[in-house]
Amino acid sequence: MAKKILIMDTILRDAHQSQAATRMTTEQMIPVLEKLDEIGYYSLEGWGGATFDSCMRYLNEDPWERLRTLRKYLKKTPIQMLLRGQNLLGYRNYADDLVDKVVEKSFENGVRVIRVFDALNDPRNIQSSMRAIKKYGAQCGGVCEAAISYTTSPVHTLEYFVKLAKTYEDMGADNICIKDMANLLLPFDAYQLVTALKKQLRPETKIHLHTHNTTGTGDMVNLMAIQAGVDIVDTALSPLGNGTSQPATEPLVATLKGTEYDTGIDLEKLIPIAAHFKKVAQELEKEGTLNPKVRQVDVNTLIYQVPGGMLSNLMNQLKKAGKEDKLPEVLAEVPNVRADCGYPPLVTPSSQIVGTQAVMNVVMGERYKMVTKETKDLFAGKYGQLPMPVNEEVAKKVLKGEKRIDYRPADDLEPEYERLKAEVVSKGFYTQEEDVLSYASFPEVAENFFKWRKAKNQGVDSDLAKTGVYPV
Ligand code: CO
Repeated sequence: MAKKILIMDTILRDAHQSQAATRMTTEQMIPVLEKLDEIGYYSLEGWGGATFDSCMRYLNEDPWERLRTLRKYLKKTPIQMLLRGQNLLGYRNYADDLVDKVVEKSFENGVRVIRVFDALNDPRNIQSSMRAIKKYGAQCGGVCEAAISYTTSPVHTLEYFVKLAKTYEDMGADNICIKDMANLLLPFDAYQLVTALKKQLRPETKIHLHTHNTTGTGDMVNLMAIQAGVDIVDTALSPLGNGTSQPATEPLVATLKGTEYDTGIDLEKLIPIAAHFKKVAQELEKEGTLNPKVRQVDVNTLIYQVPGGMLSNLMNQLKKAGKEDKLPEVLAEVPNVRADCGYPPLVTPSSQIVGTQAVMNVVMGERYKMVTKETKDLFAGKYGQLPMPVNEEVAKKVLKGEKRIDYRPADDLEPEYERLKAEVVSKGFYTQEEDVLSYASFPEVAENFFKWRKAKNQGVDSDLAKTGVYPV
């Protein structure tokens, strides 16, 4: 039976987040949005992730305004967003009332598919987002996509991922995403994983694969997943595809054309759109936010089993300590630390926590002689439940009597929307409910942006108002 493969193009979000620090402006998107809308994609990822921070910090854009603009032009194609579970669009845990509000406003402003994940794969950390997605999604045809953070370790087996996916399905997920942010998933493993998920999940549950092409395996991963029955794969139009970004869209469309997996996408129609983004990529390169090196194949992840970003962090930390020669020892220590703290997937923030601790253990010459607050919190359960029990001997040394929690970390948080709203109002920046959510995500960055916006509306020099640096 013919099976059409659906495509989400990440050109408006992850492609430039991965290659150009999320610096594509709305202006650079607008000229081709109507053309993108005609392609027949499953969805276009255009929001969430680092969009929020980057819009306000670097681009003087209201992220909500960007979303409304996308919606205006994308009349047929669903806009997809990435949500970090209880961390929403920021990096701390937020109270449930804020989670509810962010989801409500995201749908209201135009999002139709929300991909939600937790770095540790703790279902409790995405349960309140999922509840909100189901609640508001029911009113607008919104889709709830729960993502598994893919990683490799002795506990991250096929059975582990299938069980997790079934839990997410029971919690109400319409789609299950395999989120392979570090490009650790290998093609034959992808085949096995998708086969197992297809067999164990309900027939109506769509399987969506998200990988990158950092290590050069991305296209093969996609193709193997397709042969195993995956429903949706993520690609990025070629000018910002490959390397640290997603595998390019056009080669996959061409590969599947005329086969039982034909995407139905017309390659010819992609040409003018790609031509536009080629110019955009050149602009980003010129301003220095896109380093062409990110498009090269980097096999380090395949060799060391640590994500590319984590490896460069480790090298930087060692350089600062003047101990660059210790890299092999640190790389050997990473899996030990990871085992001690119950095998968290190596993604933000656990990749930094495990990496920093491994560096300390090696540099200090004694394991856990020095520990960071983050390591303590990880052992104490404050990031959520770890995939496996921690090493109790190490835990004693790390926690030094500090209390552990076994409940959902966000259960400790009081409602915060009204308090934050009062702050934004009292500072004179309130123009819409969405402002409160921007402020909650990045208080300082949002405040600077609000200052800029206010000054601009008043017709004074808005750049000066934002930086506060006045010429003498
Ligand atoms: Co990604």
